[in-house]
Amino acid sequence: MNRVSDILSRKELLRDDIIFLLQLSGEDEKILFRHAAQVKQETVGNKVFLRGLVEMSNVCRKDCLYCGIRTSNSDVNRYSLSEYEVLSAIRFAHENRYGSVALQSGELTGKSFTDKISRIIARSEELTGGSIGITLSCGEQSEEVYREWFDKGAHRYLLRIESSSRELYERIHPRDANHRFDARVNALYALRKIGYQVGTGVMVGLPFQNVEHLADDLLFMKRFDIDMCGMGPYIEHKDTPLYSYREGLMTLNERLQLTLRMIAILRILMPDINIAATTALQAIDKMGREKAIQIGANILMPNITPGRFRDSYALYENKPCTDENADDCKSCIDVRVHLVNHEVGYAHWGDSPRFAKRDVPKGK
Ligand code: 5AD
Ligand code: FES
Repeated sequence: MNRVSDILSRKELLRDDIIFLLQLSGEDEKILFRHAAQVKQETVGNKVFLRGLVEMSNVCRKDCLYCGIRTSNSDVNRYSLSEYEVLSAIRFAHENRYGSVALQSGELTGKSFTDKISRIIARSEELTGGSIGITLSCGEQSEEVYREWFDKGAHRYLLRIESSSRELYERIHPRDANHRFDARVNALYALRKIGYQVGTGVMVGLPFQNVEHLADDLLFMKRFDIDMCGMGPYIEHKDTPLYSYREGLMTLNERLQLTLRMIAILRILMPDINIAATTALQAIDKMGREKAIQIGANILMPNITPGRFRDSYALYENKPCTDENADDCKSCIDVRVHLVNHEVGYAHWGDSPRFAKRDVPKGK
């Protein structure tokens, strides 16, 4: 048996095993991918669930050193969708049997923002008779705000840890009270305590990042016992401070492959969670998301933001589908998912089986 097969046959992957697997290429990488695909088939099967993604606003109070919509970037056309526009997008998702929506925005605090989100959640519950799954991704908030949104009907929350290494986290964020690693971790624990299905994730291929960091990221997710994960390759944005560290980075294709290995290993470590095939994969390779589905991912997030705003939600450069409307995306979902022998799980929430097994108060 070669070393890869030997490691994959073990009951538990240790840190050194993960570090080894993260560096595979060629035939050995294919063995890893085949194994992850098999684990996926045996646990979550070949269904892909949808989260209609609404990018509600690109106004953000934070200043992450890698992000195109950071507050210091004055070159962004800032927009906030009206409640009506967000609800129209949610209605579109509902009418097209997407099952769930993911409502995302830059991070804002304050009553007018939190009340607006609360109203959107409450109205979309009315609009869909409580049948649409609601995932939120609106950054770090107080426990009270998280609880209010949960009580209104949101039941999943995505908050990427970005890097589970305090040292790396601090290198890619400003060192101020707004960007504290501990606050990030505490927010994840608050979400868990309230009863959300909790999703997190990291960027792959960041400056200063090595495979040890990435192995620790996967072990962090395992230890926290997450329900969902969204990971994507880091893609530099020229209007951000981290852009000046682009020399010596992996090529975009190497970052894509490494992200795929991260996804495959995570599927093996946590067979019954939901893993998203993220848009950043598609930004590098037209088939990036499909490749992720083949080797471990089971969630797609079609963009249903009204077309004219999409250009402005540029977290990174060359973001795909920014010139399209939700209707265009609709026709390509089935085709793409069938291409890799999967089926879309229409009109289902598609909660992670991991969460169903957890003994916590359930939302809705
Ligand atoms: N490249 C890739 N992903 C990015 N994000 C932000 N900026 C970038 C970038 N330059 C990701 C972060 C954030 C998510 C919404 O987008 O992980 O959590
Ligand atoms: Fe908005 Fe990082 S720049 S949360």
